[in-house]
Amino acid sequence: MEYLPESNARYKDVDYWNERYRTEKSFEWFGDFTKFEHILKEHVELQEDILMLGCGNSALSSDMYQAGYTSITNIDYSSVCVESMAEQHKDCAQLGWLCMDARCLAFPNSVFDVVLEKGTLDAMLVEETDPWKVSDNAARLLHQVLLEASRVLKPGGRFISVTFAQPHFRKRLYARAEYNWSIKHYRYGRGFHYFLYVLTKGEELSPEDAALEWRLLTEAEALPTEVQFQEVDSEDFLNNIGI
Ligand SMILES: C[S@@+](CC[C@H](N)C(=O)[O-])C[C@H]1O[C@@H](n2cnc3c(N)ncnc32)[C@H](O)[C@@H]1O
Repeated sequence: MEYLPESNARYKDVDYWNERYRTEKSFEWFGDFTKFEHILKEHVELQEDILMLGCGNSALSSDMYQAGYTSITNIDYSSVCVESMAEQHKDCAQLGWLCMDARCLAFPNSVFDVVLEKGTLDAMLVEETDPWKVSDNAARLLHQVLLEASRVLKPGGRFISVTFAQPHFRKRLYARAEYNWSIKHYRYGRGFHYFLYVLTKGEELSPEDAALEWRLLTEAEALPTEVQFQEVDSEDFLNNIGI
């Protein structure tokens, strides 16, 4: 628990991650590659171009490389993280490391087959107190990232999201016609379950997911827009979720 922040809000703060990555050399959120490799290989071809969003100091990219995935570009907004990962993997030219914000990707449209994130969106949602209704700020932040992920995906490309968030919570954020993708989800892990979402660009939302989007839009129009914030710093979302 050496790197536990004094408040959950700090998980949204790049200074927290920079400080942490100055000394922490590796940490794996929500289990390592072997835990969900069987699902990933059904949806990602070895030679496909992959963008890893918020790579952190996880071994996921190097594990995937060892398993035969040959093109993985890693981004994180922590410069300390990116420098340290680039140094650790300097002998592996197929792994790229760039300091970049997931809200504003410096890539042209339609260049990646796969955009993959593990725990990055969860870190952006740590201050949320009601999983049924995320705050306007968090919704805006997620929307920026999801629009960017969709934009850089080729037609037929997949956004893959690995998270502890259950479908009844997470689909509320992913089910939007604007992102131009369909949603499938899978579960992995023993005891505590994690989820892997596969959002395929160019496919329509299922009737059920389209109905969810429509219901949420209708509810949003009917509700007042003011959002109440609560302090929940005594709880620790991410670190209470054992790996
Ligand atoms: C919970 S960690 C997950 C790290 C890694 N993906 C893993 O599976 O262990 C969240 C990571 O997202 C990065 N991050 C958070 N917000 C970001 C943003 N807006 N742009 C890029 N990276 C971000 C953090 O620096 C941190 O490395």
